Amino acid sequence: MSNTRVEAAPAPAVPQQRTGRWLAVPLLAFALVSLTAGLLADHSPRTKGYFRLFFSDPVHLKAGFATAAVALACFQLFSAAWIFKKLPWARPRWIGRAHRWSGRLAFAATLPVAYHCIFKLGFQTPDARVIAHSLLGCFVYGAFAAKVTVVRLHRFPRFALPVAGGTLFAVLIGVWYTSAVWLYGHSTSAAPAYAAAPVPANADAVAGFAVFQKAGCGSCHVLAAAHASGQVGPNLDSARPPYAKVVAQVTSGGGVMPSFAKTLSAKQIRDVAAFVATNAGKP
Ligand code: HEC
Repeated sequence: MSNTRVEAAPAPAVPQQRTGRWLAVPLLAFALVSLTAGLLADHSPRTKGYFRLFFSDPVHLKAGFATAAVALACFQLFSAAWIFKKLPWARPRWIGRAHRWSGRLAFAATLPVAYHCIFKLGFQTPDARVIAHSLLGCFVYGAFAAKVTVVRLHRFPRFALPVAGGTLFAVLIGVWYTSAVWLYGHSTSAAPAYAAAPVPANADAVAGFAVFQKAGCGSCHVLAAAHASGQVGPNLDSARPPYAKVVAQVTSGGGVMPSFAKTLSAKQIRDVAAFVATNAGKP
C-alpha cells in the first residue's frame, strides 16, 4: 500500500533525495498546464452547450461544484496534516486512502466548472474581479499538475510537497472567492436594497418586450415570457430581479454581461427592465 510510502518519506533519506534542479519539473508542469488552460479559454463567450443539472442555471451549478471542491480541499489539507503527524491524534489507518479519495473527488468536482469556464465563457477581462478569476482559474490546473508531479516523482526536498499542496489550496480558494463567494454575497446583499423599488410610470413593459428581443437578452437568459432559453447568465424566471436591479444590470453590465448603456436609450432600458421585472417567474 502506498501508506508505507508516506511513512518512509519524512525519514532522513539524504542519499536518495533529488537535487534542487529537479524542482524545475513541477514548475514547468505548472507553467505549461496553466498556459494550455489559458489558450483553450481564449475565445469570446459561446452561447450553446451549457448545462445546469438540478441548479437554477449554469452560474449556480459552477458555484455549487466549486464550493464542493473547496470543502474537499479543506479536508485534503486536514488529512495531509494528519498523515504527516502535525495533529495531536494518532494516525488512523484509513487516513491515506481518505486523503487520496477526497483529492480525486475534489478534482472531479472542478470538471463541470472548468468545462463551462474554459470552453463556454472563456478568459474574460471586463473588471479586476473577473481578470483575477480568469487567471487563477488557469493556475488551478497548473498547480494541480505541479502537485501531482511532486507526489509521483517522490524524493523531492521536504519543503516541496507542502509548498505544492499549499499553492494548490491557495489558488483554489482564490478562484472560489472571486466567483462563488462573490455570487452568493452579491445576490443576497443586493436584494433588500432593490426589493421595494416599484416599476415607475414612465417605463413601458409592453415596449420592453421588443427591446428584450432586439437586444438579444434571450441568447444569454431564460425568460419564459419571451420564450428565451439562453444559458450564459442567470435564469431570470428564478432570479426574478426587481425593476431597479434590471436597470442597474443592463446599464452597467457585469461579469460576462455587456453594458447596454451605449446601445440602448435610457427609455429602452426602463422599458426592458419593466418587462423583465413584471414577467420574470410567470409561466
Ligand atoms: C452575453 C450574454 C448576456 C447578454 C446578451 C445579456 N446578459 Fe444579462 N447577464 C449575463 C450574465 C453572465 C449575468 C451574470 C451576472 C454577472 O456576472 O454579473 C447576467 C445578469 C443579469 C441580471 C442580474 C440577474 C441577477 O439576479 O443577478 C439581469 C437582470 C440581466 N442579466 C438582464 C439582462 C437583460 C435585460 C439583457 C438584455 C438587455 C441581458 N441581461 C443581456 C449575460 C448576459
